[in-house]
Amino acid sequence: MQILSNFDLCQSGQINSPMIMKNRSLVSIDDFTTEEILKILDLTVEFEKEPTQWLLEGKVVATLFFEPSTRTRLSFESAINRLGGKIIGFSDAANSSVSKGETLNDTIRTVNNYCDLIVMRHPIEGSARFASEIATVPIINAGDGANQHPSQTLLDLYSIRKTQGTLENLNIFMVGDLKYGRTVHSLMMAMSRWKATFNFISPEELRMPDEFKLYLDNLGLKYYEHNDFTDIISKADIIYMTRVQKERFSDPIEYEKVKNVYVLRDSMLKNTKPNMRILHPLPRVNEIHTDVDSNPKAYYFEQALNGVYTRQAILCSLLGIK
Ligand code: CP
Repeated sequence: MQILSNFDLCQSGQINSPMIMKNRSLVSIDDFTTEEILKILDLTVEFEKEPTQWLLEGKVVATLFFEPSTRTRLSFESAINRLGGKIIGFSDAANSSVSKGETLNDTIRTVNNYCDLIVMRHPIEGSARFASEIATVPIINAGDGANQHPSQTLLDLYSIRKTQGTLENLNIFMVGDLKYGRTVHSLMMAMSRWKATFNFISPEELRMPDEFKLYLDNLGLKYYEHNDFTDIISKADIIYMTRVQKERFSDPIEYEKVKNVYVLRDSMLKNTKPNMRILHPLPRVNEIHTDVDSNPKAYYFEQALNGVYTRQAILCSLLGIK
C-alpha cells in the first residue's frame, strides 16, 4: 500500500495545505508541503538573527542516536540549549537497554513517556516512520540508514537559498555516493519542487537509485549522469559533495575501489560561476582537499552552522511554539 504524505495529498488536491505543523513528525522531506518548508526557512532567518531565546522552557527533547553523529546531534542539542529546553538521550546505543536486546518498539514507547519530542538516528531504513507510528510525540528523523535525512535537507535548502538568493531553476551537481547517500536523496526530492536540473556524478556502483530517478521522471525534470565532472563544472550553481560511506558497504574490497574516486581541489574551481558554492553534509574524508577550505566558494562549515538555526525552526514548528 502506498503511504501518501501531506505533500502528495496537497499535490493531488485531496487536502488543502493545512500549515499546522504542531505534533507532526518529520520523517521524509515530503511530509512537508512546499509552503511549510518555506515557512521553516523564513523562521530560520529569524533564529539566525537571534539564536538565544527562551522558547523551549519546560520542554524535554530526547536525542536517540543509534549511529554515530557529530553535527546532527550536537546542532540539535545546541539548538535546544539555546532555546532553554532540556535534553535526555544517548549518543551510543551500547549505553542503552538496546544492548540488552530491547526492541525499537519498546524503546520508543518508553522514551515517549519522558519527553515532548524525539530526535532519532537509526541504521535501518524505515525505522523513523515505524517510530512515528508508535510515538504520540513528534519524531524527527535524523537519518534512517541510506533513506532520508530531512532536517539536513532543510538546512541545505536554507544554505542554498541564502547563497543563491533563490531556490528556483538551479543547476545542482551531486557528487560521490549517490546510492547510499541519504542527504542527496532527501535534497533531490526537495529541490525538484523548484525545477532544479540535476547532474549526478558517481561511479557506476554508486549511481542514484532508480526509485529516485523515477521520481524525477514522473515530475518531468531533467537529470544527467556522469562519471566525471571536470569538463562541466562551469555550469554548476551548487556542487554538493558527499563522502563514500564505508559503513554502508558489506564488502570492504568494493569500498576500496571507489573510496577516493572524486577529490575536489582548489585548482578545479577556476572556471566555476562566481556565485557557485560547494556544500557537503560532512563529515568529509578525502573528497574535498583542504586547499579548497580557504576558497570563498567553500560553504560547508557555514552550512553546518546553519544547522543550528534550521533545527531551532523545526523544533519550534513541531512543538507548536510561536
Ligand atoms: N551531516 C551529518 O549528518 O553529519 P553527522 O553524521 O556528523 O551528524
